[in-house]
Amino acid sequence: MTHDRHAKQLRTWTEQARRYTREGKSADYIPALAQVDPSQLGVCIVGKEGRLVAGDSDVSFTLQSISKIISFMVACLECGIDCVLERVDVEPTGDAFDSIIRLEASRTGKPFNPMINAGALTIASLLPGGTPTEKLNRLQSWLEMWIGRRLPLNQTVFESEWKTANRNRAIAYYLKETDYLQGDVEDVLEVYLKLCSLEVRLDDLALIGWILALDGYHPLRQTQVIPKRLARLTKAIMVTCGMYNASGKFAAFVGLPAKSGVSGGILCAMPPRLRSKQMPFREGCGIGVYGPAIGDDGNSVAGVKLLQQLSEQWDVNLF
Ligand code: DON
Repeated sequence: MTHDRHAKQLRTWTEQARRYTREGKSADYIPALAQVDPSQLGVCIVGKEGRLVAGDSDVSFTLQSISKIISFMVACLECGIDCVLERVDVEPTGDAFDSIIRLEASRTGKPFNPMINAGALTIASLLPGGTPTEKLNRLQSWLEMWIGRRLPLNQTVFESEWKTANRNRAIAYYLKETDYLQGDVEDVLEVYLKLCSLEVRLDDLALIGWILALDGYHPLRQTQVIPKRLARLTKAIMVTCGMYNASGKFAAFVGLPAKSGVSGGILCAMPPRLRSKQMPFREGCGIGVYGPAIGDDGNSVAGVKLLQQLSEQWDVNLF
């Protein structure tokens, strides 16, 4: 690829999308997240052809709900897909990510999908290990195999989350009562909130996105690190449930598997079969985006605009 031309284009698109940061604001329900500068926007794209970065790309931020795809994959790797799907379904809800309503209103009370908090809490309980530390260590080992480093815990964000976790606590106790959640509720909450509080960089997100784009094949290690069936299942869940209640709109106007978090991060996979003349990464790539100004739907406003621009300009919409 003509690296300079694409790098310049990406910088232009990032600066154009940055205007939209004014339409959102930093998540304020977790005090530690409210303090970040909402005008930031950065992107990192990695693929066989190299790496492109633009904007505020040298940042680290907490995973938040992006951790939900990681814990889902690790639970499936450790316990098997069928065992996980016995306890968590793969249907979108149209409700808020932290909604409780369907747990009692639906016939079985089974969490609808792994991307809402009820599903993610159930999955945190399925992770192997007798203590929260053991569960986290095990997940960290998988992550380390994928991205080459152990992610640090942001203690301030974790403590902030822990103090404001009443709704998550309510969901978890309800799931304990209905027997979907295994083990001690407070331990499960600790695991879930610590996963949300792990700090990543954009290149970490981009690499995971790239592995998913290649159906679980690790392009640097040159080996399959996630079975193809699981990588595909994860991408299907990302398309249907990954962008909260705006997943339908994101599928309609961007058309790529992605998962967002309330800290403003988005992990996106561009599969290789999406060949187009404009697309510089012919063999697929992963994209990490960070824009902490989020909209009412919980997604980075400018981050979504930037991904829409990329999908349109490079003609890589899945559909
Ligand atoms: O559960 C919470 O409150 C958050 N730590 C999760 C954040 C998030 O990104 C929204 N989840 N779907």
